[in-house]
Amino acid sequence: MKRKNKHLPEIEQEPIEALSFEEIQLIRAAREKTEDRSQLPPRDQSEKAKLGRFARKNKLVVASAIVILLAMLVGIGFGIAGMISFATSRPNTSDITVEIGEEKPFTVPYDEMVRDGVLYVDLRAIAPFADLIVSGSTEYMQFASRSGTFLRFENDSEFARINGKLVEMIVKEFRGNEELPAKAILTKDKCYVPYRFLKECVMDGLQLRWNDEENILSFRRTYTDILDEEKQPIAATLLFDVGSFTVLPEPGEKTYEYSYLIDIEPYLESIQTENLLLANKQTPLGEDFVPALEEITVATANKRILYLDAHAARALEAMMLEMAEVGVTDVMVTSAYRSYKRQYELFHVTYYQQEKAKHPTWTDEQIYAEVLTYSAAPGTSEHQTGLCIDFLTSTMNELNNSFEGTPAFEWLSHNAHRFGFVLRYDKDKVDITGYSYESWHYRFVGLEAATEIYEKGICLEEYLAAQN
Ligand code: DAL
Ligand code: ZN
Repeated sequence: MKRKNKHLPEIEQEPIEALSFEEIQLIRAAREKTEDRSQLPPRDQSEKAKLGRFARKNKLVVASAIVILLAMLVGIGFGIAGMISFATSRPNTSDITVEIGEEKPFTVPYDEMVRDGVLYVDLRAIAPFADLIVSGSTEYMQFASRSGTFLRFENDSEFARINGKLVEMIVKEFRGNEELPAKAILTKDKCYVPYRFLKECVMDGLQLRWNDEENILSFRRTYTDILDEEKQPIAATLLFDVGSFTVLPEPGEKTYEYSYLIDIEPYLESIQTENLLLANKQTPLGEDFVPALEEITVATANKRILYLDAHAARALEAMMLEMAEVGVTDVMVTSAYRSYKRQYELFHVTYYQQEKAKHPTWTDEQIYAEVLTYSAAPGTSEHQTGLCIDFLTSTMNELNNSFEGTPAFEWLSHNAHRFGFVLRYDKDKVDITGYSYESWHYRFVGLEAATEIYEKGICLEEYLAAQN
């Protein structure tokens, strides 16, 4: 409010717009001066001044009324805005617009895409755009990407497969947070799958967006940094993965109940990775076979650096940690991967000479026949697979069946299979394996096969024969 000052009445009463620029400057200067209260004269208590106070009081009343009125108007305004926003926050149930890349958008009735609180998308409609290869029927449908990853759905089923792994389609409800089971719905030309399921398992190549205000569902490709010959960006290959879904055991698959003492989680994937590579007298690996190898982390005899297949190495680490937990600490690995060359030396030099020294009158044929009962000819040894180890304890100075009397053997006999290992050359399997009993030689095959081999009391050859 403009301040009244008896020294400046005339100027204050002039309408502002009638003033020149200079005059305005003058008023401003004067106003600034009056702002400084120390320069004001002492208050005049005359009748005129009292009237001035009365007028100011009245103005205050008017001003208050205006403020109240304004407040009421603002309040009403907010009320209306609130009502409008309440009205607009109600879910939009009009037809859904589907935008697939740059293609012309189309609409689908709301009730076709939203069922039992779940938003569905027709994956068949997106398949050509997403470069997916579709196969199947109205019973099941599979969508494979160029990356080799795929999704598979069965009609009216809550279960789906992501890259062959079985998962349950439990998704957050559409416009809410409740977790709901959802089903795939297959018809002659459509394959409706839950939108949130698809969004969760698409890792690359496709962007899925839902615009809740306008009911628009859009699909866009994502692009690599690479340009094609015409300098056009190349669409990223679609990549599916299980995301946060829990992979379920296959129907009828056994569950292995054993409470590991160590934290088994970091090792489980390796332990469960099956490897049934066979190397025996009838199935040689040949001279050139060299597997991918990793240095093993466990105790080795004479601290030798030894190598194994990565999963076998991880499973071995877990197994020896578990042994240590139960107090079996006198155990070490003395042999793991052996190259063709190393096996050649053992077979043709070390063992040949040992037998020759023992039986000086034997022919080479007799010597080799003997060596072959316990040592593999180069190119046929299981040690060349990088999947087996020989154990030794401090009580042994060479590999022999005194291992049978050690706590390590006792524990391994009952637990090695829980880590995917099996005793490879058992007493009663000599005819099948072709080698004499080796209580120290353990082979990694993976949890499932090892459990079956252990439970059935069979050897790897028998297990493989039963598979075919
Ligand atoms: N001792 C086993 C059979 C090998 O030489 O591979
Ligand atoms: Zn061995």
